[in-house]
Amino acid sequence: MRIFPGKWLRIKICKKNTFLLLLFWASCWILGSTFLFLHRSLFSGRCTDEESKKILAGLCYDYNNRAVTGDLCEDLCVTEKLMYKHCLYYQRGKKVLQADWQGTPVILKSKNDAFSKFQAPLFLDESDAQSLTDTELLLMVAVEIKNTLGLDLPNSTLLPLWPERKHSQNWKVELASMWSLYQQEEYLLFNLLQDFSRHVLHIVGTCGHFYAVEFLSAGHSWKQNLFSLEEVVGQCKTVLDIAISFLDMVHQFDNEFSHRLHLCDVKPENFAIRSDLTVVAIDMDMAFFEPKMRTILEQKCTSDKDCNFFDCFSTCDLKTFMCGAQRENSNLQVICDKIFRHWFTQTMMGFIRPFPLQAELHKTVQKCAESTNMESLFSDLYSLLQESQKQLHRGYM
Ligand SMILES: Nc1ncnc2c1ncn2[C@@H]1O[C@H](COP(=O)(O)OP(=O)(O)O)[C@@H](O)[C@H]1O
Ligand SMILES: [Mg+2]
Repeated sequence: MRIFPGKWLRIKICKKNTFLLLLFWASCWILGSTFLFLHRSLFSGRCTDEESKKILAGLCYDYNNRAVTGDLCEDLCVTEKLMYKHCLYYQRGKKVLQADWQGTPVILKSKNDAFSKFQAPLFLDESDAQSLTDTELLLMVAVEIKNTLGLDLPNSTLLPLWPERKHSQNWKVELASMWSLYQQEEYLLFNLLQDFSRHVLHIVGTCGHFYAVEFLSAGHSWKQNLFSLEEVVGQCKTVLDIAISFLDMVHQFDNEFSHRLHLCDVKPENFAIRSDLTVVAIDMDMAFFEPKMRTILEQKCTSDKDCNFFDCFSTCDLKTFMCGAQRENSNLQVICDKIFRHWFTQTMMGFIRPFPLQAELHKTVQKCAESTNMESLFSDLYSLLQESQKQLHRGYM
C-alpha cells in the first residue's frame, strides 16, 4: 500500500500534538499537586510550624528587648527548657501551640500573634506613672477586667491577678505584659476560676501575651485514648464517669459562682479530661458570665434567628424588635444535644453491648436536648447515670 507523504506527515503531527498535550497535562498536574501540598495550610486554614516558630521568635525578640516579661520567658527564650513542639490552631483563630516544658507537655495560648496587637496601658506613658498608688493601679485593673469580662470584681478577687512585684524595677514591663493578658477573656476566666473550679485549665505560667496551660486529652481524641480499653465494662464505666463529671461542671457553672457562667461553644474538642476523668473546659473564648451574656443577647432583631449567638439564644420581641436579654436555652441542654446525644444512642460509640439503663438514658438525653425545663431533667439524668454505674458495678451485664 502506498503511503502518501502528506497524510503520513499529518498523522505524525497529530501524534506529536497528542503527546505534547499529554505531557503538558501531566506537568500541570504535578505542578498543581506540589503547590497544593506545599501550601496546604493556606487552603485548610491550618497553622504551620514555620509561622508558629516565627511567632515565638517575635515574643523572644520582645523579651530580649525588655518589652515583655513573664515567669516562662527565660525558659522559652534563654535556657530552652520550654521547647516548641507543634501548632494546633486555625490561622484566623487564637494561637494555640503545644510545647514541652522539661519533659511535661504544655499548651501555649494567645489571642493574637504579636504583643504589639494588644493595647498598651495608656497611663504608662504619663510622666507621673511612677507616682500611681496601689489603689489607683487596682482601679485601673478593675476597669480593664470590666471591659473584658463585663464583671465588677471586688479588690480581694483582683489581688491574685496582681502579683506583689508592682514596685520592682521592671514594673512597667510587667504591667504591660499583664495588660496584654487582661485583654484575653479566656486568660482572665482561667485565672479567676483557678482556685474555685476543677473544671477549668490550670495556668502554669506566662510570657508576654502568651499563657501556658496544662496539656490534657482533648475531646476529639477521647475515643483513641480512653475507649481503647479492651473490656466493655471498663469503657462503659469511663463514659458514665465522664458524663457525671459533665453534670458536675454544669451544676457548678450554673450555681456556684456569683453569676451564672454560660458556655456558648459546646463541642467535644472544647473539653478535655484529667486522668481522674474530671471534665475540663479548655476553650473559654465563648464563655460568658450572666451580665456579659445579657449584653451580647440584647440586640436589635427582626426575627428569632437574629437572637442566636452560637450555642446561646433568646427570642425576638416583635413589639420592641429587641432580642430578650435572658438566655433561653441552657448549658445542660446544649451538652445533652451536642455531646450526650451521640453517646447514649442505641449503638453508643460503636459498642457491641448495651450498658445498664441504656434505653432510659437514651430517652432522658433526648428529652434534655429538646426541653427547656432543666431543673427536673438535671436530677433525672444524674440519678440515672448513678444508677447505671451501680448496676454496672454489681455486674448487671
Ligand atoms: N490544654 C489543652 N490540652 C490539650 N489540647 C488542647 C488544649 N488546649 C487546646 N487544645 C487543642 O487545641 C485545639 C484548639 O484550642 P482551642 O482553645 O479550642 O482554640 P480555638 O479557639 O481555636 O478553638 C483544641 O480543640 C484542642 O484540640
Ligand atoms: Mg476550640
